[in-house]
Amino acid sequence: MGLMEWSDKLDIGVPTMNHEHQNLLNLMNQLFDKWEKKASRAEIQTAIEKLKVATTDHFKHEEVHLEKIKWEKLASHKIIHKRLLDDLDKFEKEYKAGAELGKPFFTFLKMWLTGHIQGIDSEYGTKTQSLNKSA
Ligand SMILES: [Fe+2]
Ligand SMILES: [Fe+2]
Repeated sequence: MGLMEWSDKLDIGVPTMNHEHQNLLNLMNQLFDKWEKKASRAEIQTAIEKLKVATTDHFKHEEVHLEKIKWEKLASHKIIHKRLLDDLDKFEKEYKAGAELGKPFFTFLKMWLTGHIQGIDSEYGTKTQSLNKSA
């Protein structure tokens, strides 16, 4: 079942970034499935770690892209990325310390997909597409 399915709403019109977003969505779904099936804490821990590594890489790639297109909102976008990573880090630390994953964690992941990707990522997607057209 998973946490969320890919849909056209998540398509921001930039193939490389879409690809990375799809990868993040898959990793979130894998994590959610493990949690639902009550996998071992070690397995869940590994899934969180995978998501964290892929997210760190994606944010770096995205910020390079934003610099390339001279995105006006780069500074605030970077701050929002940092906040998402800090929050993910916080959930991971709490999990390592013995807490359970639950609704707040998965609501956070969903908000990230729907709020961040459909929101501010799609804004730079629109600019990228119009730059590609005029190039
Ligand atoms: Fe972003
Ligand atoms: Fe993104």
